[in-house]
Amino acid sequence: MGEKIAGLDVLGPEYFTDPHAYHARMREQAAATEVVLPRGTRAWLVTRYEDARHALADQRFSKDYRAFPDVMRRNKVGDDDVPEEFDQSLMKHMLNLDPPDHTRLRKLVTKAFTARRVEQLRSRVQEITDGLLDEMAAKAATTGAGIDLVDALSFPLPITVICEMLDVPLDQRDDFRAWSNTLVLGGPDADAVQEAAGRMADYLTRLVEHKRSDPGDDFFSELVHADEEGDRLDHMELISMAFLLLVAGHETTVNLITSGVQLLLRHPDQAERLRADRSLLPGAVEEFLRYESPVNHATIRVTVEDVEVGDVVIPKGSVVVVSLNGANRDADRFPDADRFDITRPAGGHLAFGHGVHYCLGAPLARMEGEIAIGSLLDRFDFALAADPESLRWRQGTLMRGLESLPVSLTPRGPR
Ligand code: HEM
Repeated sequence: MGEKIAGLDVLGPEYFTDPHAYHARMREQAAATEVVLPRGTRAWLVTRYEDARHALADQRFSKDYRAFPDVMRRNKVGDDDVPEEFDQSLMKHMLNLDPPDHTRLRKLVTKAFTARRVEQLRSRVQEITDGLLDEMAAKAATTGAGIDLVDALSFPLPITVICEMLDVPLDQRDDFRAWSNTLVLGGPDADAVQEAAGRMADYLTRLVEHKRSDPGDDFFSELVHADEEGDRLDHMELISMAFLLLVAGHETTVNLITSGVQLLLRHPDQAERLRADRSLLPGAVEEFLRYESPVNHATIRVTVEDVEVGDVVIPKGSVVVVSLNGANRDADRFPDADRFDITRPAGGHLAFGHGVHYCLGAPLARMEGEIAIGSLLDRFDFALAADPESLRWRQGTLMRGLESLPVSLTPRGPR
């Protein structure tokens, strides 16, 4: 590993390129290891499956890091003054809270994301996908060049779906993508992070005002107007909720679709099996989620007392990061874990987390992944249109996905 601070590995570019190799070493060494996160916070990294699963569901690992500013300050190392957190007005959301506050906020939106409600969106998701694939076909026919799958499909599909669910206009989609990227990936430029947070907060404030004066029949308008006892959200809670749903709704699924296609390109035999037998698709999506988990590490947690993880005691007042990719490649849980196999029983992976913060959007993400990849297989033969060595992974420890994936497309005849 490259850089070290205070004798600890700094998770930097070398790590982003191949986190799996690093996790394998960490799993071997200890149940939890101290590392330094890219913005200079000292944290305990948990990489074994059983430990990760327990930690995700254990309330002694608090998600409410804003309640422990001293912990965040004390764990800052190096001379870098970039805060791990940014504009607080976007941060008052369920993923940063423990029960009962978490329970209250989650309850308000759960009904919009149940498997049954999501199933009702299937034909619309298919329609959006078909439109994007039509555009890809037209572009491939006119330019004859490769197409970036991220720009053409993986990004626009989930962002369009979540914007429609919240009835958010798409006109500022590219700005939104840029701010979201800066905030999620962070990086060393504190001013850029703060500026993106400020712009995002302004944008969401205007959106809430719009919903207040001109409500639609979407559930976001309902939230703005909710006035039931105890359920009214304050302004910070409203813009934080919008921020969480919009960002979680697309930053993650973009990686699922892109990694899924990249894995099929790297394993043409499995792509062929999937083409031949479409009943394998749900299992294949689970294997994409396990093998390249789109959320690399769960979001940070803080220990409220000393906690034993395996044979390691993580002291009270520590920052803890649970590695989902680490856990999902643990051979004690998934035999021959580094082998990609769309037919393996991949259920039980931790790609959507575990416990009370288990991903609210899991049914939606699975449906988008299946429709995007199934439709792509129906419509095209595809090949990588770049040197595999030139593919770049997104920077940062939170997400795992390619920045772009150039593909060449050949339309297939009707099946
Ligand atoms: C939480 C993964 C798609 C909304 C989470 C967590 C993970 C995750 C790992 C828990 C984080 C933690 O405990 O620190 C994913 C993956 C996705 C995906 C891999 C796509 C492949 C979505 C979508 C939505 C969404 C489409 C739609 C809005 C949320 C929300 C939470 C969450 C609101 C917070 C839940 C809570 O705190 O109770 N997701 N997610 N996610 N996800 Fe997703």
